[in-house]
Amino acid sequence: MDSDSVFYDFGCGNGSVLFQTAFMTGAKCVGFEINPINVKVAKEVWKVLRPKLEKIGGRSLDVTIECVDFCQYLKKNESFFQSPCVIWAANLLLPRPVNHYLSEQFRRCAVGTQILCFEDFYPHGRSLARLRDPEAFELFEMRDYVWPPLSVEWCTLEGTRFIGTNESEKERTGRHQR
Ligand SMILES: C[S@@+](CC[C@H](N)C(=O)[O-])C[C@H]1O[C@@H](n2cnc3c(N)ncnc32)[C@H](O)[C@@H]1O
Repeated sequence: MDSDSVFYDFGCGNGSVLFQTAFMTGAKCVGFEINPINVKVAKEVWKVLRPKLEKIGGRSLDVTIECVDFCQYLKKNESFFQSPCVIWAANLLLPRPVNHYLSEQFRRCAVGTQILCFEDFYPHGRSLARLRDPEAFELFEMRDYVWPPLSVEWCTLEGTRFIGTNESEKERTGRHQR
């Protein structure tokens, strides 16, 4: 990502990922958070952090935090999927129907969009998965990562996370030929 990118945190909590991403990349960062207390904390922290990070980084930073249910947001904002962006969803603890709703909505995202998640939106680890959901395999190049031990707050062990990138027709053709 760079300063031309747009980054969304679906469920931004206290905003820490937004702030770090804005600082490190200069991207326009937008967080959606349903819990008003988290939003209040995030906004207060950003008020303090922003001038410091802008001074250190030598550029102005663009962070917006909206108190909203991201499912409702997507329903009301049809244009959301028109431009490529990077979406982070720390979705490990989201209810299943919410993850399902997001995985269906994200199929509409613009070519070039990257979706980062803990709980795989498009399970692809078994050969059967390709037969069950061929569209997801068509749309996304999927990459698997592990988080290293002691790097997330709720678990000392390593674990999985995923990146799905919606590719252009040309990239897709290349991938199928590889
Ligand atoms: C595990 S925290 C992730 C915080 C941050 N994104 C991170 O990676 O550190 C998940 C957050 O999602 C929020 N959340 C859950 N469902 C939501 C929804 N439907 N709309 C907006 N926020 C939601 C929760 O309130 C919580 O703050």
